[in-house]
Amino acid sequence: MIAIGCDHAGVEMKRAVIEALSEKGFEFLDMGTDGEKCDYPDIAVSVCGEIISGRCDMGILICGTGIGMSISANKINGIRAGVCSETFSAKYTRLHNNANVLCMGARTIGCGLAVEIAEVFLTTGFEGGRHQRRLDIISNIENSQR
Ligand code: RB5
Repeated sequence: MIAIGCDHAGVEMKRAVIEALSEKGFEFLDMGTDGEKCDYPDIAVSVCGEIISGRCDMGILICGTGIGMSISANKINGIRAGVCSETFSAKYTRLHNNANVLCMGARTIGCGLAVEIAEVFLTTGFEGGRHQRRLDIISNIENSQR
C-alpha cells in the first residue's frame, strides 16, 4: 500500500500517478488534498504517519516543487524523503538511500514523467551493504536530535 498526498499545486499530478499506477496493480491510500488550498507540511505529516505506523510501505508527496514536502517529511523520525525530477535519482534514492518517500514538483516536471519516476521508485529495492552503514549514521543523527 502506498500513501500519497499533495497540496493544491499537485492535485492533477497526484491523480495522474494514481490512475496510471493503479492500472499496474499498485494500491494507493489518498491522504488529500482533493483540491482545497492547504499547507503542505500537514499533508506530509499525514502521509508519513501512515508509513511510520506500518499501514503503508512507502509514500509519494507532491507540491509545487517537491521541496517543501521533502523538508517537512525529513523532519519525521524514520522518514527518508528525496525530491526526484528524473528516473536516475529515483532509482538511486531507493538503491543507496532506501528512501521511503518520493517527493515531486508539479510545477517543475510533467505528469507523464512523474508517473515514470514513481514507477521506478516503487519497483526498485534497497541494495543494503555499505549503504546500510550510512543509513545507520543518519539514524544516529536523528536520535541525537531528540
Ligand atoms: C504552494 O504555493 C507552494 O509553495 C508549494 O506547493 C510548494 O512548492 C512548496 O515547497
